[in-house]
Amino acid sequence: MKTFYDYYNNKIQLSFEDQPFDSDPKHVWVICRFEKKWLLTKHKNRGLEFPGGKVEQNETPKQAAIREVLEETGGEVDQIKYIGQYFVSGKREKLAKNIYFAMVKKLREQDSYYETEGPVLLEKLPENIKSNENYSFIMKDDVLSYSLDYIEKIMELT
Ligand code: GTP
Repeated sequence: MKTFYDYYNNKIQLSFEDQPFDSDPKHVWVICRFEKKWLLTKHKNRGLEFPGGKVEQNETPKQAAIREVLEETGGEVDQIKYIGQYFVSGKREKLAKNIYFAMVKKLREQDSYYETEGPVLLEKLPENIKSNENYSFIMKDDVLSYSLDYIEKIMELT
């Protein structure tokens, strides 16, 4: 398990074990690939980030992940894999969030992208995300870099 602090100085615990903090997490975050590019969304307030959101009632976290990718990017998920979970200890709230890695097969234009401006494709993620004001705070802690390292490792093996 890794422990570090986020952009707002909230404590984050991150693990690549099977749902170690909460077996019924209410939040998901999805690192997406489409045609050899990273697929992000542009949140209207927070800026560029990988899609994600809250798990609705009668939905599994994986179903929520697939739905959020479609709603926020128009991406149809082809394959999706659970990779880890993190726990945010906020001043007021605590929450557990599952991290997924998804391969998107098609981008379908949507009438609405909810709280976002829709899909953004990037060949490379910039080095300076942590100081880049175009990026959301959820991209600015070590969850992103540890998850990308983990994905690189598992993709080499399979
Ligand atoms: P809405 O109800 O969707 O408007 O959201 P909210 O702002 O009430 O937030 P949510 O319940 O999603 O999260 C509560 C707090 O947890 C946020 O204000 C953040 O500080 C923190 N948080 C949520 N998701 C993340 C995340 O992915 N990374 C980090 N570092 N903090 C997060």
